[in-house]
Amino acid sequence: MMISTMKITRLGHAATLVETTKTIVIDPFLTDNPAASLTVKDLPKVDYILITHDHFDHFGDALAIAKRDEAQIIGVFELTTRKDVVEAGVKTVGFNIGGSYVDGDITFTLTPAVHSAEVGSPSGFVINSENKVIYHSGDTTVFEDMKLIPKLYGNIDLALLPIGGFYTMDEKGAAAAVAYLKPKSVVPIHYNTWPPIEADTALFSRLVQESEVKVLEPGQSCEV
Ligand code: NI
Ligand code: MN
Repeated sequence: MMISTMKITRLGHAATLVETTKTIVIDPFLTDNPAASLTVKDLPKVDYILITHDHFDHFGDALAIAKRDEAQIIGVFELTTRKDVVEAGVKTVGFNIGGSYVDGDITFTLTPAVHSAEVGSPSGFVINSENKVIYHSGDTTVFEDMKLIPKLYGNIDLALLPIGGFYTMDEKGAAAAVAYLKPKSVVPIHYNTWPPIEADTALFSRLVQESEVKVLEPGQSCEV
């Protein structure tokens, strides 16, 4: 049987669950996340853990999940070879921005992000699976090179973009990013977790012209 959909669940903040032929979590910050829709123990068995950068609200429970499920941590080289990650003895694949890692029928690509990190460079991810293209920008401001992402990796079915401001782009910046990325639909993330990143999803929806805005509360899903 052919599986032709990918299910995307917003877990709160930037944490995202992607269920395709494999189970993928992106930025699994669940413990101590006031917006988390579930705890690590409620998470299904994970195959891949994608980490956009090493800030605590993104690295989160990566090591605990990697140990529990023998899941593979995917991210920039300096992050996957960080001392605590190596000492945890978990499976990793570390590469760099512009590069792709192909495993079976899924391709993971590291994309640039304009942000900061303790080690390595902050990134985003493109996931190609089931002829669908998902883009999670990580923490970033808008940058014009975003328009290369669909050109290089395929028309984006769903983009997950921060709108909270303060640490990332805000509603206006994210709407400008949507204009560069031209995704079929966009899910706002990284807002309302704490007071400095309160955001207005209605404003974001008004500012986005061509793409469908899907506002998912933590725990809600959509399919592409
Ligand atoms: Ni960050
Ligand atoms: Mn963050």
